Amino acid sequence: MHNEIAPVSAPRIIVALDFPSQVDALDFADRLVPTQCRVKVGLELFTAAGPQIVEALRQRGFEVFLDLKFHDIPNTVAQACRSAADLGVWMLNVHTLGGPRMLSAAREAIAAAHGTRPLLTGVTILTSHDDAELVDIGLAEDAAHNVTRLASQAQATGLDGVVCSANEAAMLRDSLGPEFVLVTPGIRPQGAAVGDQRRVTTAGAAVAAGAHYLVVGRPITQADEPMTALAALRAEIGED
Ligand code: C5P
Repeated sequence: MHNEIAPVSAPRIIVALDFPSQVDALDFADRLVPTQCRVKVGLELFTAAGPQIVEALRQRGFEVFLDLKFHDIPNTVAQACRSAADLGVWMLNVHTLGGPRMLSAAREAIAAAHGTRPLLTGVTILTSHDDAELVDIGLAEDAAHNVTRLASQAQATGLDGVVCSANEAAMLRDSLGPEFVLVTPGIRPQGAAVGDQRRVTTAGAAVAAGAHYLVVGRPITQADEPMTALAALRAEIGED
């Protein structure tokens, strides 16, 4: 359906630029090499630095995943997706709990983008929710059932893929086929600090479970030698 974009292309590691300011983010980005990784701009950095951070990263040669998890009425999300596409991002995401009409509107909005359209992915159930909390917010089934249902709605409405934990990747890869993009955070090198993540996996295990792209933050951003940490992760997934 979207044969204008390859579902997976190297580099498959996306470095999460979770920094409080443009200066901090660009100082760090200047220690990375854009042929070896992509970068992710999330809520913290985007709120502090604004859209020009995307332009500054693109000028340095980076492909940018804009991780703002849009969730609003269909028309508003569609306009936000169009604005993100106009920024020239490589990937953007929406929250699948916005429902099928919102997902379709997002997909239609980026189809109108000039040039190569961005990849559109969906967040299903945030990994910070446990099953008890899902019940509290009115989602009766456990996380796995909710993730499966929402990911197949994302696929049915034309999204390219979803963000999911490596634990969910194998199940989604089986049910949604080889082309559906799976983007997996919560990656830690063997023996590394887990931080606030609860369920972590190694880069090799995530790819073996079917992940196309790996979002890696602190194991690279807090490393003394970020490019050395990145190189080790790339070697683990067979990228030279
Ligand atoms: O530092 P760390 O590798 O834990 O960073 C992971 C990145 O992935 C952060 O930017 C975080 O917001 C993001 N993320 C996540 N879990 C999700 C979705 C996104 O950790 N389910």
